Amino acid sequence: MALHSFLLMTLVLALAVAASPVRVRNNRITLPMARRANSLGVRKVLEADRTRAALLQGGRKALTKRHRQSTGNNAATNSTATSSAAAASGTASNGNVAAVNQGEDYVVSVGVGSPPTTYNLLVDTGSSNTWVGASQAYVQTSTSKATGQQVEVSYGSGAFVGEEFTDQVTVGELTITGQSIGSATEAEGFEGVDGIIGIGPTDLTVGTVGGEDSQTEVPTVTDNLFSQGIIGENLVSVFFAPPTSANDSNGELTFGSVDDSKIVGDVAFTPLTTTSPASEYWGIDQSITYGSSNTTILDTTAGIVDTGTTLVLMATNAFQAYQQATGATEDETTGLLTLSNTDFDNLESLFFNIGGQSYELTANAQIFPRALNSLIGGNSDQIYLVVNDIGTESGQGLDFINGFSFLERYLSVFDTTNNQVGFAATQFTNATTN
Ligand SMILES: *[C@@H]1O[C@H](CO)[C@@H](O)[C@H](O)[C@H]1NC(C)=O
Ligand SMILES: *[C@@H]1O[C@H](CO)[C@@H](O)[C@H](O)[C@H]1NC(C)=O
Ligand SMILES: *[C@@H]1O[C@H](CO)[C@@H](O)[C@H](O)[C@H]1NC(C)=O
Ligand SMILES: *[C@@H]1O[C@H](CO)[C@@H](O)[C@H](O)[C@H]1NC(C)=O
Repeated sequence: MALHSFLLMTLVLALAVAASPVRVRNNRITLPMARRANSLGVRKVLEADRTRAALLQGGRKALTKRHRQSTGNNAATNSTATSSAAAASGTASNGNVAAVNQGEDYVVSVGVGSPPTTYNLLVDTGSSNTWVGASQAYVQTSTSKATGQQVEVSYGSGAFVGEEFTDQVTVGELTITGQSIGSATEAEGFEGVDGIIGIGPTDLTVGTVGGEDSQTEVPTVTDNLFSQGIIGENLVSVFFAPPTSANDSNGELTFGSVDDSKIVGDVAFTPLTTTSPASEYWGIDQSITYGSSNTTILDTTAGIVDTGTTLVLMATNAFQAYQQATGATEDETTGLLTLSNTDFDNLESLFFNIGGQSYELTANAQIFPRALNSLIGGNSDQIYLVVNDIGTESGQGLDFINGFSFLERYLSVFDTTNNQVGFAATQFTNATTN
């Protein structure tokens, strides 16, 4: 009896240890997500963020047009990084434009085919196609069906062109059928990953498959999980903890719900903004104030929440107001703002006012994780700030980006069913991890 109990207990423990860290509960799927700092470009976090911001600010249509013109006359116009990326990869002129930050990114593992091949994919809220083949080639199995259509997407730091398939996709322990998957025949700018899982709004896929004039929307992985009844709600939520090392498994991507074990209090939602181009992405309206004096940094305006941006970017006028309020100066090496230790001791909280709620970034939350300073070319004990300049004055229709420096303090929810974005505090909201 005792032995039996002991064996049973051992078995239970062994199973618990052997079990995949992926959890499926209450119609939701949770995948572990790892932050990775790439060997190339990590010193260029700000540059990568600004390139992405400029592309997103152009909006899908504007960028597609610019892209067309530049490839149309076949000249090396350097109007956007997109045209040069497309030129470098020799891609044709159709397709959608999105942007991916290759400086630092978040990656999940997804299976494609039967038996599945596992691919490591960048998690991108700023684009909506899912594709593989950048590093590891697409492995066709009996479940792979060629659609006969071409797919092409240009990103800030790269582009891919390939053939569109439908295939079985395994997310955690669950499998969706008939998922559109791009198989890259050419990919440029995706070092060390196999492709992208795009979790942006579905209409960002218009013009990507079957030619730029195609009006076809390609259902995202989240859409299919929902339409096939695997998750109960068409939403995805993202949890990150502040990183303590370069490659840190500090995140979770949850389809269908929110992992309640990660949040403190409730999720508060805000409707998607109607202001373009922020409205093409996960766009919201917010204002920003600083400190106990409630100094205005940014008046209410539209911007986006984005897993593809490292920093918190804001319009030049807001950035200058922040710099004045904090006394921070620009560090030449990293391009980031820096503060003396004394000024850091005096640094007050920054408040993001969204949908009637105030989200506080404490002084510690405003600094770049010191454990990662060397990756950006900084000194290990220096204070660098995560707030930076988006590069344009307010009034662009996309005046801020709450990148993962913000998302490492608040869990975020991207809700397609109700056209809203939500945030919740976590145990790391006030942490002094950085
Ligand atoms: C584009 O960039 C290339 C390389 O940086 C440069 O040689 C060329 O002069 C630029 N062209 C224009 C039109 O600015
Ligand atoms: C992080 O992981 C990526 C991809 O696996 C690798 O290229 C890079 O060198 C790693 N960085 C560090 C600092 O270990
Ligand atoms: C600070 O100002 C903003 C708008 O300027 C307002 O929404 C917010 O409630 C104020 N906060 C406090 C604590 O007074
Ligand atoms: C963080 O601190 C603020 C006040 O400093 C407090 O109001 C809030 O409840 C704290 N949040 C969490 C999640 O601990």
